[in-house]
Amino acid sequence: MQRSIPDDFILGAATAAFQIEGAAFEDGRTASIWDAFSRVPGAVIDGHNGDVACDHYHRMPADVALMRDLGLQVYRFSTSWARVRPDGGEPNAKGIDFYSRLVDELLAADIMPWLTLYHWDLPQALEEQGGWTSRDTAHRFVEYALTVHDALGDRVQNWTTLNEPWCSSFLSYTAGAHAPGRQSVEAGLQAGHHLLLAHGMAVGALREAGAERVGITLNFQPAEPIDPTSASDLEAARRLNDQYNRFFVHPIMTGEYPESLVRDVGPLGLDAVVQEGDLEIIAAPIDVLGVNYYHDDAVSYETPEVPVVNDAPTDRPIASPYPAAEGVQAHPRGVPTTNMGWEVNPAGLTKLLRHLHDEYTAAKGVELWVTENGAAYDDEVVTDASTGEARIHDAERTEFLRGHVGAVLDAVEAGVPVKGFMYWSLMDNYEWAWGYHKRFGIVRVDYETQERTVKDSGRELSRMIRERTL
Ligand code: BGC
Repeated sequence: MQRSIPDDFILGAATAAFQIEGAAFEDGRTASIWDAFSRVPGAVIDGHNGDVACDHYHRMPADVALMRDLGLQVYRFSTSWARVRPDGGEPNAKGIDFYSRLVDELLAADIMPWLTLYHWDLPQALEEQGGWTSRDTAHRFVEYALTVHDALGDRVQNWTTLNEPWCSSFLSYTAGAHAPGRQSVEAGLQAGHHLLLAHGMAVGALREAGAERVGITLNFQPAEPIDPTSASDLEAARRLNDQYNRFFVHPIMTGEYPESLVRDVGPLGLDAVVQEGDLEIIAAPIDVLGVNYYHDDAVSYETPEVPVVNDAPTDRPIASPYPAAEGVQAHPRGVPTTNMGWEVNPAGLTKLLRHLHDEYTAAKGVELWVTENGAAYDDEVVTDASTGEARIHDAERTEFLRGHVGAVLDAVEAGVPVKGFMYWSLMDNYEWAWGYHKRFGIVRVDYETQERTVKDSGRELSRMIRERTL
């Protein structure tokens, strides 16, 4: 039976500056931590870097035209700090102009721009002054946010401060899997807190500057106990949920770190970094909570099978990003997995949205949007016998997309007012430590020619938007 998609449910796709733009050192842009990290031997598979990526910086008008042809209603992108304020210093007119043109193209194509200020690409010069372990970086972030708002605030309504601060703190400063590749429990906790602070300070500043709708995007990877009657499995799930999910959403929505989390990681460096008044700033009211969901996990301390962290594509040793969850293991549930090894479980998204609504957003009238959800698969390009056109029949990704949009509609029908869904990603791109080896796009990018080819999943998203059915 065909299911209808409500007319006011907004569908689109997402990208991030470092993953698609290329032009890494053009028009005044200077190095970000990812430019530096990708040059560290063994940090990224095959030493891939973002110098060219999808060359979006030079192909932007054509990429927006492609989005228009697909009928996207919303496009989530990020601005590059190192382009807008190179080295974290003075504003760079040429860098700002690129985003101004992007916004104009989007508006002309009737696509709603959704702007994220920080998708992991800190200027390397600021990292050299301490990066996110330094409180000063939060102040610098506010300056940068206001520069972007000054230039685009007249045309952009949706302002997201940070994308997935868990990744830019624990995965980057504790595990060392992402830039800047540090491995310190204390540094991760400092980074996590300073990112939250940067978010709260920027929310205040953006509002004062007149920003219409302000929010943050968090990644959720809910942990379920394998055996809900086992005290030890419950504790394993509790620790992971505290250190992955609640570390960020809880203080933003309630003005406090969860008590159980503070018991675990307070003495490891969190207590020392929190100053009086910080939590009040962090809890600045937001309009939108962006939810990124890829998968959930069944966990336990028992019978180790798969480490919870599998983001270690090279031989370089990666530390655990969970300072107080040593020994917690994820266990395969026998469901299909994507090319990242992540379990496919759309029902986990419905459950997460219901939980966030009940626990946090309903009472405060904060809107929920799915700002990322998607899957990497190996794609094969085939030639259509009748038309001679290149086609990518990515049945698994298409099914993934349909399943997860359906899961969001399940939440909507259960009374959770989720406003929209953005697929990750518009096009294949630089998948961080995996380089160009993982393809998440609904549009294929041939990195030799930079040719774009819409995959079947892209055609399906386009059809959903046009026909409003699933
Ligand atoms: C990030 C994206 C990334 C995607 C797939 C999300 O955590 O925001 O930048 O490409 O996951 O790993």
